[in-house]
Amino acid sequence: MLVLGIESSCDETAAALMEDGHTVLSNVVASQIRTHRAFGGVVPELASREHLRNIGFVVRKAFADAARNYSDIDGIAVTQGPGLIGSLLVGLSFAKAMAFALRKPLVPVNHIEGHIYSAFIEHSRIQYPILALVVSGGHTSLIYSPRADEYESVGRTRDDAAGEAFDKLAKFVGLGYPGGPIIDRMAARGDARAFHFSIPKISDGSLDFSFSGFKTAALRQIQQSGIKPRRRGGKVSRQICDLVASYQRAIVDTLVAQTQKAADRLQPPSILLVGGVACNSLLRGRFTETFGPERVYYPNPVFTTDNAAMIAAAGTTKLVSAPTLLMDLNAFADLPLC
Ligand code: KG4
Ligand code: ZN
Repeated sequence: MLVLGIESSCDETAAALMEDGHTVLSNVVASQIRTHRAFGGVVPELASREHLRNIGFVVRKAFADAARNYSDIDGIAVTQGPGLIGSLLVGLSFAKAMAFALRKPLVPVNHIEGHIYSAFIEHSRIQYPILALVVSGGHTSLIYSPRADEYESVGRTRDDAAGEAFDKLAKFVGLGYPGGPIIDRMAARGDARAFHFSIPKISDGSLDFSFSGFKTAALRQIQQSGIKPRRRGGKVSRQICDLVASYQRAIVDTLVAQTQKAADRLQPPSILLVGGVACNSLLRGRFTETFGPERVYYPNPVFTTDNAAMIAAAGTTKLVSAPTLLMDLNAFADLPLC
């Protein structure tokens, strides 16, 4: 089965061709980072325009890289939500037009489910039930999946997503956008014990997360310690490295602690760490240490941040079970997974 995946939920325009749910024949991602960098975050209106500009080229390149024709595909999988509505609509409308013109089935995929499937691309034998920590710029959720395509929410962020928390601190201290990868690198040079961040206690015993307190605490530390933001192109100070290392440690401690509580409760044989923040080296190391290398699965970094191979992977199972041509399909900014 040959599936075209299309993803445009945020600031990446992506298309991929995948065979039988595991073999990635092409994986094209047009990143908009340069467009949004000047603003320190994604500007929705600009994102929609960039998607419009890029989508045709990105899909054509996915076919060219895979050396396949449009008529070779068995179906199209497209991200339906959650995400920025204007961005989602570009990918969805393009997918509908293609499905109509080629007379091929079209299936909607939830972006979060796509991230979960990203771990399956290179690990075909992951055993269910699984516990997935989905941690990205827009989402931080713990999801339990007893079997394929069945999901239960175990915990979620009550305020910011973990990636958003990284991106915001990076902006405060002048490290640039997106902040997560830069903080990951700068933290390696700093002392993670230099600044104290108290881990919030969620009093109702739920496995939810909260990150906005870290942001406020970091702002206070910046003021109290007189930390100056890095000047554009300038050197990153020792104090900034210490601050981001301490902040990263607090976020990672929270993510690991809540996942551990969920794993103790649910005893899943497999634990997945997915979404852009799953690239974080401290978080990956701590997951392996805590749960053991034979139980933890991460996607390859190319499938960790937003991409369309993960959407094609998730869509393949749906095309097998229910081939449909959904021309009345709509996009939803807050589409729930469960
Ligand atoms: O999954 P993704 O590409 O988009 C969303 O669905 O949100 O995730 C992007 C997020 C950004 O917030 C980025 O800062 C974060 O992932 N990120 C990282 C790292 N690489 C990307 N955060 C921490 N450490 C990293 N190495
Ligand atoms: Zn994502």
